[in-house]
Amino acid sequence: MYRLFQVSLFASSAIAVTLQGQPKMLSVIADRVKPWSGNAANVPDGKMFMLRKDPSDESAGFIINTTPNNFLTSTSSSINDISTTPYNDPNSATQGIGDAGANFVLKANTIPIPDASVTGMRGNGSMYDGGSWWIFNAFRLSETSQPDADPNSLIGFEHNEDYFAGSGGGDCTYKSIGIRYSQDLGKSWARSVPIVTKGQQTESCDEANRFTGTGDFAAMWQPDRKEWVILAQEGPLVMSTSSDPLAKPGSWSRIDPVSGQTQPGFIGSTDEPLVHGDLSSIAGSNPSIIRDEHNQCWHMVYAKWGGGLAYTNTTDLYRWEAPMIIWDDPDMTPNTQYPTLVGDEGDTLATDGKTTMYFTAANHVEWGRPLWSVDLTFGGATLSANDTARVANGTFTNSTGSGATDSDSTGTGTGSAPASSSSPPAAAEGATTEQKDSTTPLTDTGDSDDECPMDEDDTSHTTATSRMRRVRRVGA
Ligand SMILES: *[C@@H]1O[C@H](CO)[C@@H](O)[C@H](O)[C@H]1NC(C)=O
Ligand SMILES: *[C@@H]1O[C@H](CO)[C@@H](O)[C@H](O)[C@H]1NC(C)=O
Ligand SMILES: *[C@@H]1O[C@H](CO)[C@@H](O)[C@H](O)[C@H]1NC(C)=O
Ligand SMILES: *[C@@H]1O[C@H](CO)[C@@H](O)[C@H](O)[C@H]1NC(C)=O
Ligand SMILES: *[C@@H]1O[C@H](CO)[C@@H](O)[C@H](O)[C@H]1NC(C)=O
Repeated sequence: MYRLFQVSLFASSAIAVTLQGQPKMLSVIADRVKPWSGNAANVPDGKMFMLRKDPSDESAGFIINTTPNNFLTSTSSSINDISTTPYNDPNSATQGIGDAGANFVLKANTIPIPDASVTGMRGNGSMYDGGSWWIFNAFRLSETSQPDADPNSLIGFEHNEDYFAGSGGGDCTYKSIGIRYSQDLGKSWARSVPIVTKGQQTESCDEANRFTGTGDFAAMWQPDRKEWVILAQEGPLVMSTSSDPLAKPGSWSRIDPVSGQTQPGFIGSTDEPLVHGDLSSIAGSNPSIIRDEHNQCWHMVYAKWGGGLAYTNTTDLYRWEAPMIIWDDPDMTPNTQYPTLVGDEGDTLATDGKTTMYFTAANHVEWGRPLWSVDLTFGGATLSANDTARVANGTFTNSTGSGATDSDSTGTGTGSAPASSSSPPAAAEGATTEQKDSTTPLTDTGDSDDECPMDEDDTSHTTATSRMRRVRRVGA
């Protein structure tokens, strides 16, 4: 096994991106969610969003939303500080969906559901969220596309799952991306409506092809172009953009900024996805994007198919540096996935060049999919004593953080925890998807600049020649 820690990942320059120590397994979210969630086994993974409760009052703290839709509060952007009581009343949670329920009040959609003939959905096009749905990213409209909006007005980018019986006997899932809005800081949300789908939803799925569609993504606001940007896994990562302030259905196109090709509409190519040419050298899933004001760029991490966490950065959200693996530990795969970068201003912004990367890796406990974390710093930023403390707390004493191996670990991720039959944990699913690794060898650009540079001469990336036959969905 090899591990990277306390080393610069760019030998040619001053410190660029640095893992501050060894990732550690954390109990914090699981411990505090268990008392009020009947289904803690399905609660914690690394996918979460975090935003300030009140942008004008730092003492108000943060709202954290983990999958599946467990809203929590925190006094700081560290999950060590999450409250033992949830943000919303669990008794008002919307129940009856495929997972543990959503901890908010569900309201009717405010935008019409687009017709199945354009979204590619089965039936009348309204069943996209019949299984599960999780808000992956939320933004204040007042901090993004609508500066005059009420600060309590949020836009949420959602992962939707439609569960259906396939004609091949499969228990099938079609994933899509939706948009939803809240007027009361996430206490209630309008039902989402689809914005990005993939291909025509087909019922001819079987056990080997149970997961179709697209739904594992990161969204971000591009202030210079005044565009919403989504990077989503369709094998390798693909990019979609919308210049509609509310990111509404019908306003999205897939785009490859390297070749200049675009695919307007919901479903993209019915044949091969329009892969982002800069990101095809490491195909992977579940990206997380954060703005770094200190270094004037955005950073992205994602899970490489087959194991390992990949990293890249950009100055414009269009062209990305060649991705590279920043952490890979065979002990922790195939479960290393769902990374989220969190900075001092939540999961969308770091002002000081420092983030904590939360993710899910091998299970060394009895429940669910435990959260792991490690601090990542950029451009030579160093941690203070306070920064270090935020990762240290809540660590399991018997985790592999010291380098000792838990030989009893099965790495299957589910332990003895009950799992919903309609919602197999992704770890179990991953065990059968790992063989599809379409990664081509990583080439370092040799860039020696600490800033987030765009090397316009870098044409070394090639389009991935193989494609994932199946996509891994986010389970909960
Ligand atoms: C669409 O189909 C579903 C499932 O058959 C049904 O429950 C729903 O009422 C239909 N909606 C409309 C608008 O027809
Ligand atoms: C770690 O904790 C788990 C869950 O309590 C336990 O099953 C396992 O044996 C422990 N491992 C070690 C090395 O103590
Ligand atoms: C470190 O944390 C303590 C306690 O929360 C706080 O009083 C202090 O100002 C912090 N120091 C820095 C440099 O942020
Ligand atoms: C760690 O968390 C526990 C429980 O939340 C708290 O009592 C303790 O003060 C924390 N320790 C540090 C060093 O923050
Ligand atoms: C962005 O990535 C490039 C190459 O991958 C690296 O040289 C640069 O230092 C990174 N920027 C930051 C601020 O980490």
